[in-house]
Amino acid sequence: MSTTILAIESSCDETSASVCVNGKILSNYIANQSVHEKYGGVVPELASRAHMQNIVPVVDTALAAAFPELNNTTDRLKQLDAIAFTQSPGLIGSLLVGTQFAKSLALTLNKPLIAVHHMQAHVLANLIGDDIPEFPFLCLTVSGGHTQIVLAHDPLNLEVIGETIDDAAGEAFDKSAKLLGLPYPGGPLIDKYAKTGDPLKFKFAEPQIPELNFSFSGLKTSVLYFLQKQETGFIEANLADLCASIQHTIITILLKKVKKAVQQTGIKQVCIAGGVSANSGLRASLQEMGQKHGWKTFIPKFEYCTDNAAMIAITAHYKYQAAQFASLDANPSARSH
Ligand code: KG4
Ligand code: ZN
Repeated sequence: MSTTILAIESSCDETSASVCVNGKILSNYIANQSVHEKYGGVVPELASRAHMQNIVPVVDTALAAAFPELNNTTDRLKQLDAIAFTQSPGLIGSLLVGTQFAKSLALTLNKPLIAVHHMQAHVLANLIGDDIPEFPFLCLTVSGGHTQIVLAHDPLNLEVIGETIDDAAGEAFDKSAKLLGLPYPGGPLIDKYAKTGDPLKFKFAEPQIPELNFSFSGLKTSVLYFLQKQETGFIEANLADLCASIQHTIITILLKKVKKAVQQTGIKQVCIAGGVSANSGLRASLQEMGQKHGWKTFIPKFEYCTDNAAMIAITAHYKYQAAQFASLDANPSARSH
């Protein structure tokens, strides 16, 4: 028997819906919110309002793309066996929109509800497609809010074996970009300008943090002090080299700990996940490192790196198989636990 799941992701500033059948993604539609650009960061209240506007058309579009042979929403909804949503972590107002929508749909269709943890979903994005890792594997999860090394024992048993003690890798990108005068989110722009720059031109502080943990707040300060010492026009004249050097520092910090995790666990299957895994420098460096050390590396397609509902759908697929359903009084939570 086949299982069809509709998944909704609304934890931050992307409204997304996806349909999957037996773990195969049929559609993954993502609406970005441009309203935040001029504020230099996500404004929670504006994000909630944009989710409210987006959610119906986004779900409609994902359903239409999944079932093109059916010509109305009612028939498409009848295909569904379960409704999944992101429960935590995220912006509470944003999470509430997706949660309430999913609950209403589950109640109306009389189908089970599946609550998904956003960070677990980022890791399981690596299970979408044909070339996927076997368990156990390691995953470096790097997003705007988290930086973790995860030991995945099975889809529903993920162990965090290292994490940041302050800023996330995505924040290191975004905050450095801000210091360079680049708009939010700066990560993709640093990636773009870094392509033509010299990664070894400027040196920034690398933290000495024990175990498999990370720290990124020192890097931001190091970039700030360095820029304060320069003359007017320095950033414009050296933008590509600055971006390449900052990116190189972040990648070095991340991959040093990944190498340590492989040494400690003996696990040689390494995945990356989260928004920062869209970074072309990180993707290339991980592959290079894998070849050098004999690891098998896995890198999700771009659309499954930044926030998306397909990763919620694949996680829900495994939770459905394990009959891990949520009750209709399930509440979202801003925090991780
Ligand atoms: O996973 P995500 O979409 O949202 C969260 O759950 O946080 O991650 C967003 C983060 C932002 O900090 C953004 O700047 C960063 O991912 N990001 C990138 C790139 N694309 C997105 N950072 C570096 N290079 C990129 N190409
Ligand atoms: Zn995310």
